[in-house]
Formats: sequence, C-alpha cells, structure tokens
Amino acid sequence: MDKIFDLTGRVAIVTGTSRGLGQQFARALARAGADLVLTSRNRDHLRNFESEVISMGRRAVALELDVRDQGSIEAMAASAEQAYGKVDILVNNAGMNIRKPAIEVTWDDWNQILDTNLRGSFFVAQAVARRMIPGGYGRIINIGSVTSVAGYAGLAPYGASRGGIRQLTMSLADDWGKHGITVNCLAPGWFRTEQNKVMYEDKEWVEYLSDRIPIKRPGQPGDLDSAVVFLAAESSRYVTGQTLLIDGGISTGAVRALPRKK
Ligand SMILES: NC(=O)c1ccc[n+]([C@@H]2O[C@H](COP(=O)([O-])OP(=O)(O)OC[C@H]3O[C@@H](n4cnc5c(N)ncnc54)[C@H](OP(=O)(O)O)[C@@H]3O)[C@@H](O)[C@H]2O)c1
Repeated sequence: MDKIFDLTGRVAIVTGTSRGLGQQFARALARAGADLVLTSRNRDHLRNFESEVISMGRRAVALELDVRDQGSIEAMAASAEQAYGKVDILVNNAGMNIRKPAIEVTWDDWNQILDTNLRGSFFVAQAVARRMIPGGYGRIINIGSVTSVAGYAGLAPYGASRGGIRQLTMSLADDWGKHGITVNCLAPGWFRTEQNKVMYEDKEWVEYLSDRIPIKRPGQPGDLDSAVVFLAAESSRYVTGQTLLIDGGISTGAVRALPRKK
C-alpha cells in the first residue's frame, strides 16, 4: 500500500461501532493498518465485531460510551489512552435521528438529537484532542450528512445537528491546527442501515430515491472506505476544516427534487 494511506501503528477511536456506518469506517481503518477503539452504549454489542477486527490482525479494545454523558466520554478517552498510550485518529460517528414533520417535534426529541449528534461530538472531540495535543498530531473526522449542506422536510433537528457539525468542524480546525490536529467532516449521502432500514423496505421509494441521485443508486458498503482512510492518513496532511460529501452527487442541484414521501 502507498505509504500516504498506511495507518500501521496508528490508534483510531471510532464511536458507535455496534452496527452500521461506524463498523464500515472501523473496518476500512483496520484494513489500512490501524489499531482500534470500538464503542457502544452496551459493550456486549461489540463482542462479534471486536473478534472480527482482531481476526484482521489488528488490536481492538471495546469500551462503553454514551455521548450524552460527559463522565462516560471522559472515561472512554482515558481508557483508550491507557490501553494504547496515545490516540491518533477519532471518527466521531455515534449519532441518532427521529424523523418527524417539524410541527410535531417535541422538546425532548430536539434535546435527544442535538445532545447526541452535536454536543456529544464536540465533547468527544475535546476529550480526545486533549490527548492528541501533547503528541502534536491528530486526525479528527466528524460525521456529517447531506443535511449538513441542504434542508429536508422531516429532518429539522437532525439537519440542525448536522449543519452544526459542519460549522464545528471549521471552528475546531482553526483552533487545533497549531497542534498538528486536522479536523474534517465526512458527509455521507443515503446509506441503508438500522437507522433508516424501514424506508429501504419500500422498493418504489428506493427507485424514486435512486432516480434523484446522479450516480443512480443509494450508497453501498465500501463507498465510504477510501474517504475515511484519506482523511485519517498522511494523504490529507494539508486538508482541514473541510466537508467531504460522499453522496453519489445528491447534494448537487438535484437536491431540491428529493423524496418527500417518507
Ligand atoms: N445511514 C445513513 O444514510 C447516514 C447518512 C449520513 C449520516 N449518517 C450518520 O452516520 C452515523 C452512523 O449512522 P448509521 O446509519 O450507521 O446509524 P445506526 O445504524 O443507527 O448506528 C448508530 C451508532 O451510534 C451509536 N449511538 C447512538 N446513540 C449513542 C449514544 N448516545 N452514545 C454513544 N453511541 C451512540 C449506536 O451505538 P449503540 O446503540 O450500541 O450505543 C450505533 O453504533 C450517525 O451519526 C448518522 O446520523 C448516516
């Protein structure tokens, strides 16, 4: 492998690795050579994946993390540092969504989404950056979304949290660049996971969605791999504060014609 994409000897925390995109990001980083810290609110949900990473020849440590709890964030960051002696890479992936017309969104819905996606990502980044600063090196990858750059009906608080992630990325990049830490946002388009699988059960809707994506299909496992490795490795050494959309092009002009059915 080209050295600029090689993560051998690097330690990466990927939050939210009990399923979905978090596992895809972790697999891609492990394939590039990184040792991993895996997290979930329930460590039992990490058992199989931890074994999978170890069978790839990498080290893996499974830790409990609830990003809505500051104590849990600090404990996770401290345990990660204790396990490996350093942290080089953070993928801030843990997140959730509640789909509702804006008129029906409750105070509690808003708090759950913003506390998890935005406040959680900030305080995880802060706890990890404190441990990157002494070594003068770090790669922080915040997971955004097409909603970081576009509005969608039914996703008002989620979009606010993802727009916030994009802004947070720029501010943290400016703040921590002097410490050798880059901060970027990887913004996936539409990928089928646990979070949205109900929508993908409707074939007609998938056809409708696919037609509106310039590349004519939703995202598939593997489509995000090279982007996360690029942002985690030497390859992106002069890239910071940026949002990289990996979305089959749906954030182009076609975005206004997005499905409103679900
Ligand atoms: N799928 C897409 O099309 C898409 C597109 C753009 C962006 N995203 C974003 O990408 C991320 C992963 O999405 P996904 O589709 O893979 O979702 P998912 O299948 O629902 O997985 C979400 C992950 O986040 C973790 N998580 C949720 N709440 C948490 C909390 N309070 N503390 C710690 N961990 C928590 C979950 O772990 P536990 O439940 O085990 O704790 C799980 O591992 C999310 O931030 C999502 O918003 C997804």
